[in-house]
Amino acid sequence: MSAALADPGGGRMALALTVNGHAVRLAAEPRSHLGDVLRDGLDLTGTHLGCEHGVCGACTVLLDGEPVRACLTFAGACAGAAVTTIEGLDTDEIAGELRAAFNREHALQCGYCTPGMLVAARDLVLRLPEPDERRIRVGLSGNLCRCTGYAGIVRAVMAVIAAQRARGIPPETGAERTLGPVGARTGEGTVAAVHLPASAAASTAPAAVAELAASFAPAHCFVQALDLAHPPEAVFALLGDIEAVAACLPGAVLTARPTPDMVEGGLQVRIGPIAATFRGRARIERDEAARSGSVHGAGSDAGGRSATEGRIRYRVGPGSAAGTARIELEVGYTLTGPLAQFGRPGLVRDVAGRIAVELARNVDARLSGVAAPAPAGLNPLRLLLGLVRARLASWFGHP
Ligand code: FES
Ligand code: FES
Repeated sequence: MSAALADPGGGRMALALTVNGHAVRLAAEPRSHLGDVLRDGLDLTGTHLGCEHGVCGACTVLLDGEPVRACLTFAGACAGAAVTTIEGLDTDEIAGELRAAFNREHALQCGYCTPGMLVAARDLVLRLPEPDERRIRVGLSGNLCRCTGYAGIVRAVMAVIAAQRARGIPPETGAERTLGPVGARTGEGTVAAVHLPASAAASTAPAAVAELAASFAPAHCFVQALDLAHPPEAVFALLGDIEAVAACLPGAVLTARPTPDMVEGGLQVRIGPIAATFRGRARIERDEAARSGSVHGAGSDAGGRSATEGRIRYRVGPGSAAGTARIELEVGYTLTGPLAQFGRPGLVRDVAGRIAVELARNVDARLSGVAAPAPAGLNPLRLLLGLVRARLASWFGHP
């Protein structure tokens, strides 16, 4: 289907797409997400909106046959595509079997999650070879239900898969995408580890490196303070040890030996069920006399769909008690691509507070020598907003 239409004016863009088998032409603002367009523009209110941040999965629809989160999908990116909502699955055989099984197994109560749950479950019925409970739970882990406890949902999906296979209906094979939560791009929630080379000679350049702009004007800024239980001079000295500090940051990995003013690395990001690995580089500057410094970093995710650039300035001063330190951060950043949804300043500040607690704890532990922080890359799950982590990673000399 053709996608480019005449400009409708008013800052809106013209779109042509297929929705539930019908050709549709509409005008939408470039920033509109698919969920709003379906609900407000086409009155397809079966697509529910819960979090609008890619976490709950209530908005799951099919885009060219693949489950996606409508709240994270720009309508403009759907030009020429085929969208299927829950209304479009009224006569779908698998969806019908799932609806019956959901009723039978008491797999819904308020029903708010149910449209998205059914779309995600249908994909599992299509592709899972057998009713494997663990894989079903992983596959549905991007769809949250606050009512049922999931047991009935899992039973229902298992029953439909078992019935389909018993009737000799094989799973679909050959799909490029991996089986995993809706929106996941790395299989069942795993992110490949990146290992630090043994020497500078073994250094490998990041697969996708965004060049640092000479003049950078961030789209968003915020300030953050970290309190640590160690003297300023010790904290500042630790910040100069890139490898040590990178180890304090969950999800951070170095891909090359850092030099005093440049570091290359990656950051494993998990935002709800969405996993991505950012790789890039950062330029580091330090002022020993003022106990201050800055990091200017940039990177992109493995698929190159989301990119980020940020500059963090920091100053280490005395804390409120003798022998303690306070780090004052000034963070500026720009994020582009699908993960830009997470760049909303209020969210960034909120999660930055959580990150600060974890970072301060790990840095304090390292300075105390009493406990090693969690190995980098193994435990990024507790931090919800990976892009905030990317900014703080840049602060630690690691984009
Ligand atoms: S509304 Fe889209 S994931 Fe929650
Ligand atoms: S049935 Fe209420 S949120 Fe799932």
